[in-house]
Amino acid sequence: MRKPIVAGNWKMNKTVAEAQALVADIKRDLAECSGVDVVVCPPFTALAAVSEAITGSQLDLGAQNMHWEGSGAYTGEIAPPMLRELFCHYVILGHSERREYAGETDAIVNKKLKAALAANLRPIVCVGEQLADRDAGRTEAVVEQQLRGSLANCSAREWTDVVVAYEPVWAIGTGRTATPDQAQEVHAFIRSVIRDLADDSIAQTVRIQYGGSMKPANAAELISQPDIDGGLIGGAALDAASFVAIVQAAL
Ligand code: 13P
Repeated sequence: MRKPIVAGNWKMNKTVAEAQALVADIKRDLAECSGVDVVVCPPFTALAAVSEAITGSQLDLGAQNMHWEGSGAYTGEIAPPMLRELFCHYVILGHSERREYAGETDAIVNKKLKAALAANLRPIVCVGEQLADRDAGRTEAVVEQQLRGSLANCSAREWTDVVVAYEPVWAIGTGRTATPDQAQEVHAFIRSVIRDLADDSIAQTVRIQYGGSMKPANAAELISQPDIDGGLIGGAALDAASFVAIVQAAL
């Protein structure tokens, strides 16, 4: 049995004060959520404050990106040990917005993946096709290429810390969600690629989140699909009541 994982990707939203207010509400409403791993991923500037706020709770902390080097002359970047110091346990890697606006390639995502695993951070590796890919019948080809590039050279031990997020780009922030059947089809395909990259028992344990306009109204139906193990939530994670309702749907 895979434990569901619901993560809130706050993207470039929330000042420190706003982040503290949001996480206080989430924490209050999720006092009991041991059946689901719940992760909040604020922007870098709010990590320390949110880390302090969730101490002793069941919430976990994630970052939205990191560099692959441990330190050095990389202006504007954040290194894995800096995240660990703030008790970050997860890091989102290869989000489509980073691929699109920061030019991240599968090779870069793979370097970050290896660095995250070496630093004891659990990577949430994002893959997903553009609308044009889907319309051209290229969804599986695109997702497979992203998986093979981003997740190359993982040991069996490393696979146990990996989370994959399937985020069809056309569903992100558009209000247009993949139907449960569409999402399940790609999740099952992702699991088959992991089986090929690793083995069957690893493929059965790796958690695969869905992301893209997930909200309280559609979360239960998506997460109840056999290969959907939770959600990576954008817009709805900025509102405590919506985020909590999605976690409850996963329960
Ligand atoms: P939305 O939930 O706003 O569509 O964003 C999804 C996402 O990109 C999470 O990483």
